[in-house]
Amino acid sequence: MPRDAQDCCADPVLDRIARQTGRIMEVDRACVLVRDKDELRSPVQQASYGLRGSGHRFSVDQGMVAQVLATGEPLSVGDYRQLFWPLPHRATDTVQAGGSVPIGWGGRVRGVLSVATTDPTRAFGDRELGMLVDLSELTALTLQCMEQREQLESTLQDGVELLAAAVDLRDHGTARHSEHVVRLAAMVGEAFGLDGRSLRELTFAARLHDVGKIGVPDLVLRKAGPLNGEEWRVMQRHPMAGAEMLRRVPGLEGVAAIVRHHHEHFDGSGYPFGLRGEEIPIASRIISTCDAYDAMTSDRPYRAAMSHDVAVAELRSCSGRQFDPDAVDAVIEMVPLWAESEQELTLH
Ligand SMILES: [Fe+2]
Repeated sequence: MPRDAQDCCADPVLDRIARQTGRIMEVDRACVLVRDKDELRSPVQQASYGLRGSGHRFSVDQGMVAQVLATGEPLSVGDYRQLFWPLPHRATDTVQAGGSVPIGWGGRVRGVLSVATTDPTRAFGDRELGMLVDLSELTALTLQCMEQREQLESTLQDGVELLAAAVDLRDHGTARHSEHVVRLAAMVGEAFGLDGRSLRELTFAARLHDVGKIGVPDLVLRKAGPLNGEEWRVMQRHPMAGAEMLRRVPGLEGVAAIVRHHHEHFDGSGYPFGLRGEEIPIASRIISTCDAYDAMTSDRPYRAAMSHDVAVAELRSCSGRQFDPDAVDAVIEMVPLWAESEQELTLH
């Protein structure tokens, strides 16, 4: 039975699985219960259809669910009311026939798919149990894919941080700057309504936009004075060099394209390809504007930081030429909120 029930957000995927299972099986109660990752025992997270308690997490130590979790064997019941253990959330006191089957992958039982009906004329025989087993196998495939995607995301995040650390080592003092740009770009990306995947690529690219500087010689990278023509040509290779590095990493192809174009200008006067307007990926336009604002308002060895007002005036004067006017507007709108959150981060 459920104990220690806690409210939490219902997982949308689990909710959908529960709802579809209820509809396909033509029953009025369905729930999917999934163990916490790496937990061999309880607790489980529940999503349900026709039951209260969706999104709850609780411990399972007895009842059909506990038995299926322990044995990995499907179970059916002709009348739930004849079971001796109390039923979850008092919501099953009217249910009659039903069944529970394990959800497993990787040699482990990871959860349980349960259904029940309040219809006294419905039976739950081998055919129904077989259907439920088929649905649990589909559920297992779905959850396994989600787990693998999470692992890939985590590996990618580690890789991004590793590369960013390598850039920070080569170009001292850039770590704070790139972290600032990541957070400001994320806010601006949200204001632009970018979806989850695009936002993730935007933040990875913001962190790594100068990764190609790893290949720029110290004489150029750390030169205190202005660069001469040849030195500029060397420096201007860094977007292409960075993109070449990143496009070889599976999962970072989109990030590579953003990095490749982070020095393009809205009017076509940038590099490496002289793209203009919307030919430039939106994430590249956002990053170049955020990068410029943070660079202008930060101290540099050769100049003091500009004030916010001066930096804003500079962004406005370059709007439509170097920068996307929409990105300029969004950055200026987001900066107060971003500055506040940066201050909070510093205090903590
Ligand atoms: Fe750059």
